[in-house]
Amino acid sequence: TIEAIRGSRILDSRGFPTIRVHLELGDGTIVTGDAPAGASTGAHEAHELRDGGTTYSGRDVSQALHLLETDVAPMLTGQSWLSIAQVDAALAHLDGTLGYSRLGANSVVATSIAAARAFASAADLPLWRWIADVTGSSPRLPVPHFNVLNGGAHAANALDFQEFMIAPVAASSMTDAVRIGTDVYHALASIVRDRYKTLGLGDEGGFAPPISTPEEALDMLVEAIQAAGYEPGTDTVAVALDPAANEFFHGDGTYKIADRTLDRTEMVSYYQDLTKSYPIRSIEDGFSEDDHDGWKALFGAVGDRVQLVGDDLYVTDPARIRAGGKDGLTNAALIKPNQIGTVSRTFDAILAARETGMASMVSHRSGETIDTFIADLVVGTGTGQIKSGAPARGERVAKYNRLTEIEDTNKALPYGLI
Ligand code: PGA
Ligand code: ZN
Repeated sequence: TIEAIRGSRILDSRGFPTIRVHLELGDGTIVTGDAPAGASTGAHEAHELRDGGTTYSGRDVSQALHLLETDVAPMLTGQSWLSIAQVDAALAHLDGTLGYSRLGANSVVATSIAAARAFASAADLPLWRWIADVTGSSPRLPVPHFNVLNGGAHAANALDFQEFMIAPVAASSMTDAVRIGTDVYHALASIVRDRYKTLGLGDEGGFAPPISTPEEALDMLVEAIQAAGYEPGTDTVAVALDPAANEFFHGDGTYKIADRTLDRTEMVSYYQDLTKSYPIRSIEDGFSEDDHDGWKALFGAVGDRVQLVGDDLYVTDPARIRAGGKDGLTNAALIKPNQIGTVSRTFDAILAARETGMASMVSHRSGETIDTFIADLVVGTGTGQIKSGAPARGERVAKYNRLTEIEDTNKALPYGLI
């Protein structure tokens, strides 16, 4: 049973308020859950509840905290709950809207994450093990995708693509992958410092030098992988991109990258050229969320050898993932619990991707806290891929450190892509 529930205002990694939910259980245990926040959000994501006005630049969460006390607490406390699905269904019912706009998806996701921890605690299982049981998955440690160069909505430079990641695909373990990630990160730091005399960072801890073309970024990544003593390649230390194309899409069907304007067909051949010139294993949101023709064309051109990931395209929605699979839009889905609002719906999204034959990559948000739920989520569901920003900065490394902790205490868990 849940004896008491309390919400608190905490700060996220960008210095804006967010919500932490504390649940007190029958045996006195206290579990928590935090809500992260995106900057380059998809139009169809669940809705955060923010106060507006001027306090905290309009981003305060006092109304959501108030509703936790007046509406959520009386419903959740004092009765016993059978499953996380039951709790999440009750939250959805209490909210009564499609995207949690009444209670706020920020307070709902934090409550749902705390409830998942409550069930794991009651079952006396590590969170990841409980998740594996509930979802019927084979647990495994994921290939981390370290976001080491930032642009787009996450940085102040003129680089249009949002994320340039490195993925130690051929590492022998999580520990090995993290070491490779830091080696490359530090090699890249030297290159950036020498060349641009700045180590300015973007929101996810990657460097944000004053460059404007994807090629400059990719050249630097390859150079850094080599300088760190590794062989760049899609099967060794690979590169992954999240252009987050919504942000440079123009309503007329064109995309603006640096000083060039490209139509859909030119975009497809641009990506095709990039994947031929660089060891790119994965491209997320290469097209805008509503440009399904663009997605289809890209899938036809490179889908047999490059992972294409839908983030803003699917917003972790099981129905959108299924439809995307049927329409041949992508071969992978990005998984962010706060896009869909609850833990059970997040499980449904991963299961939908699995049934559709798609890969899943579990993801943080650009505004984060020290909550490590997504680390247990990716291990428990065994999807084999995670992105949690650079291998630096507390809120980013909290997840990677949780993954190495799980590995250290469970040496039999396999590592790598599935
Ligand atoms: P966001 O960025 O958290 O700002 O949405 C992450 C992403 O686009 O994957
Ligand atoms: Zn994205």
